[in-house]
Amino acid sequence: MEETLFILGREPEFSVAELEARAPLWSGEVMALSEAGAVVRHEQPLPERILNRLGGSIKQVQVVEHWPVPESVSKTLHEQLTKEWIERHFPETGRVEFGVSFYNGTSNDRALIQKIALRLKKEIVAADRPVRFVTSQDQQLSAVTVQRNGLIKKGKEFVFFKNDSEIIVGATHAVQDYQLYGLRDFGRPAANAKSGMIPPKLAQMMLNIAQVKPDDLLLDPFCGSGTIVQEAALMGVKKIVASDLESRPVKETQENIKWLFSEFPELSTDVEITMRDARQVTTKADVIVTEPYLGKPLRGHEPHDWLASQAKEIGTLYFQSFTQWKKHLKPGARVVMIWPEFLAGEESVTIDIEQAILNLGFEKLPMLSEASAVKLHITTPNVLTYARDDARVRRQVRMWRVA
Ligand SMILES: C[S@@+](CC[C@H](N)C(=O)[O-])C[C@H]1O[C@@H](n2cnc3c(N)ncnc32)[C@H](O)[C@@H]1O
Repeated sequence: MEETLFILGREPEFSVAELEARAPLWSGEVMALSEAGAVVRHEQPLPERILNRLGGSIKQVQVVEHWPVPESVSKTLHEQLTKEWIERHFPETGRVEFGVSFYNGTSNDRALIQKIALRLKKEIVAADRPVRFVTSQDQQLSAVTVQRNGLIKKGKEFVFFKNDSEIIVGATHAVQDYQLYGLRDFGRPAANAKSGMIPPKLAQMMLNIAQVKPDDLLLDPFCGSGTIVQEAALMGVKKIVASDLESRPVKETQENIKWLFSEFPELSTDVEITMRDARQVTTKADVIVTEPYLGKPLRGHEPHDWLASQAKEIGTLYFQSFTQWKKHLKPGARVVMIWPEFLAGEESVTIDIEQAILNLGFEKLPMLSEASAVKLHITTPNVLTYARDDARVRRQVRMWRVA
């Protein structure tokens, strides 16, 4: 049984939800430790470049040891972290290039690990061995620092993660490919800031949470400029149907997907893009992943009645869409969808059609296990929220299955 520690991104409940949805593919079991990390115990080795398939994890760390903390972190680190321990992880000769990151600890723990590592660097120098110790101003080494300093290929980043009465110790195997995400987000030829585009990482996490498989027929009936289509194609989904009410987004998706195929010529997805009202789609899909129309942009001081009327109008659009989808979706098909929450002043308004959707024959599914929800202090495991602090429209993600 191997153990991999995933260092989680900005929205840890999404990160854990996607790990839980995908881990069965690797005969893995997920244990959320805190908002900072989750351990996956797996029978099979993880697929190559798995971190490129996960939108919510920043580092993939191979766990090598567990150090008990019977008294204090300081005592354990002083006893266990020695020059010999560092050198054991490198070939017998040659340069020792390393960095250290402490997660889930106090600022004292983080300062201490740097202090000990610096002392060990000096001991290695004193023994006439070439050494490079990578540091940064950040609390932990960022993915960029680890990558740029060659700590994956030439050197090592040692990760220490405080969990209950032990320290989980590992070496970073991969970090999130920030350049690839930049390309997928800002490299696309057509971007529609006005109707809003979903961040590629969120699109990826929703596809993972929906457990989309390569042979599934995936439908995005509100495709906009095609971010979900793009991420699904990169995940290896072979058949995607995308549609939008307006001609402009349809053209944008066409342009973006053409660009995607030129950037990634190995992709062999069959993408059908059409102009159609989501209330008229007839695709016999296995799964819908979509970010629908989320209403007019808010200024933040809209009166309650205005918000309530916008929520009602959108509720009607969603309900009519679900009614149509139910007629054509395959049995057991899943729908993972963004749901807006409007914020104006103290006011929060959302769309209240949950019962009507259940009455159509859908069942609502939680996205997080009970144990993880407790660890991450999430009281609504079937409504996960993805938003910046200053957002006026918060994106909730919800999931249903055709009952
Ligand atoms: C928020 S955008 C989707 C953005 C997309 N996820 C992306 O990243 O590019 C919502 C889209 O829904 C479309 N839309 C609005 N009403 C629709 C309807 N009744 N049927 C289909 N599409 C609709 C809009 O034209 C818009 O492109």
